[in-house]
Amino acid sequence: MTYQRTLVTSALPYINGVKHLGNLTGSMLPADVYARYCRARGRETLFICATDEHGTPAELAALEEGLPIAEYCAKWWAIQKKLCEGFGLSFDYFGRSSSAQNRELTQAFAKVLWERGHIEERTTRQVYSKADARFLPDRYVIGTCPHCGYDRARGDQCENCTRVLDPADLIEPRSALSGSKEIELRGSKHLFLKQAAFSDDLRKWIGTRTEWPNLVSSIALKWLDEGLQDRGITRDLAWGVPVNAHDWGPNPDGKRPDVEGLKGKVFYVWFDAPIEYIGATKEWADEAPGSNSRDWKAWWQGDKAQSEVRYVQFMGKDNVPFHTVGFPVTILGSGEKWKLVDQIKGFNWLNYYGGKFSTSQKRGVFMDAALEILPPDYWRWYLIANAPESADSSFTWQHFADTVNKDLADVLGNFMNRTLKFTEKQFGPVIPAGGAPGALEARLIEQLEQRIAAYTQHLEDMQFRKAAAELRAAWVLGNEYLAEGAPWTSIKASKDAAALCVRTAINLLRVFAALATPVIPFAAAKMAQALQLDAKALKWPGAIAQELDMLRPGHAFVPPATGDVLFAKLLPEQIAAWEARFGASGA
Ligand code: 2FM
Ligand code: ZN
Repeated sequence: MTYQRTLVTSALPYINGVKHLGNLTGSMLPADVYARYCRARGRETLFICATDEHGTPAELAALEEGLPIAEYCAKWWAIQKKLCEGFGLSFDYFGRSSSAQNRELTQAFAKVLWERGHIEERTTRQVYSKADARFLPDRYVIGTCPHCGYDRARGDQCENCTRVLDPADLIEPRSALSGSKEIELRGSKHLFLKQAAFSDDLRKWIGTRTEWPNLVSSIALKWLDEGLQDRGITRDLAWGVPVNAHDWGPNPDGKRPDVEGLKGKVFYVWFDAPIEYIGATKEWADEAPGSNSRDWKAWWQGDKAQSEVRYVQFMGKDNVPFHTVGFPVTILGSGEKWKLVDQIKGFNWLNYYGGKFSTSQKRGVFMDAALEILPPDYWRWYLIANAPESADSSFTWQHFADTVNKDLADVLGNFMNRTLKFTEKQFGPVIPAGGAPGALEARLIEQLEQRIAAYTQHLEDMQFRKAAAELRAAWVLGNEYLAEGAPWTSIKASKDAAALCVRTAINLLRVFAALATPVIPFAAAKMAQALQLDAKALKWPGAIAQELDMLRPGHAFVPPATGDVLFAKLLPEQIAAWEARFGASGA
């Protein structure tokens, strides 16, 4: 099936705090590379992301920072947006799951799910704190771990021994909010999404998704094989999308919701977060009222969205169940023609020295510190070239520096530098005339055609590591061509031979800039600028023989100033300093 339009979404980063490189490489960055690639191929593309703002961790983080939750979220949304821009993440819209649009959509989905009989009420027993006058989510109950004796274990898990807990397991339980020990178990009304009834439909649908990578389909099928459980979709929290039961009609059995019992509850964060993919698209449309080009429904709903849009999601493997089961049940259960995902690109973990990147323990490199140290493309290249696709991958400073030095500084940067510098020295800052392509150029063209075809196919397939390896191999061809053409030698005998070689190399640079745009857009723009070209106007290369003849003799370029390099080599003393600052162990 050929689709006219591509919708790309990245898993929504949690609002609390700066994201680490593992978060970046597991969804937002590869989604950006793919969206940029689709645009470069001239496809109409919409790339959507947002902050995931509800849930207990956000409430707790706001409490710790001493800010009202709404203020906390507004502050961190702005910080995250700026960091994403710093990394060149080219979202068409970066929304917020706490938006009015998401609230309306979430409530509309809940209403239709209730009225179609896919949501039911159940009473569950939960911890109630008299001092706080509220039910406490499991994480808000702290006490002594019965397994290891750690005295600040949370009701869902002990941070010290990692055992999964139930609040009732804790010794001397108390409220994390007030410290009060006056807590008890009380019955509370909650809504459950009847997922189990969708097992067959989901299995059938997943069966049609033959292009899903094994990592994704195996996780999805495992959930189905283990037997789908119905899922609680409400919480006793103040922050979130309020349950709007008063708006709902009777369900197919004629039963009305217990409006009183559900008062003051909000939807579970994992119910409203994926709906924000749609919500943020509506935010994007609402940002430009009256704009015909921002028709959010055309991307999500009805026959046109089904037949014209290819919808691709990017996420870490822990998110896969919510996107292959949870969100699809919301969509299928609504009975409305919402777009289901076509392709899911899932990722394993990027580790830090073999251990986990950890937000709570501040282990690893975070987006703000990364940009403080080096420009975005150093990171983008490393993270894409080492994307944790078929297995987990591990960040070390030495590996990072080796990758940057070998690929970016020695291969691409060096090619650009010596080409432009030598040309300027011998011919001035213009492309010289003279010479006609021969056997060397024919071989270059043939090899490059192969590399570019492979690179393009890997990007189509979202095989990012392989794509980066092919791109690098194309750059290597450039250096080999220069080495064999050796204009610094040939110029002694024939100015024409040297002119042909540098003219070809400068045209190669233009091809490299176009190819590199999805992965290292800032460097690509700098290359285009040196060639006095508009980076946005760079087209995906076609037949290479013609591509190498695009910039004609007389075309002026801007040679690099002394000391100005595309990528600086990372030095041993820098590596040592970063190891000292960020730690060089996984524990
Ligand atoms: O794992 C996470 O970081 C979640 N905030 C992802 C949410 S994705 C989507 F469903 F919103
Ligand atoms: Zn413990």
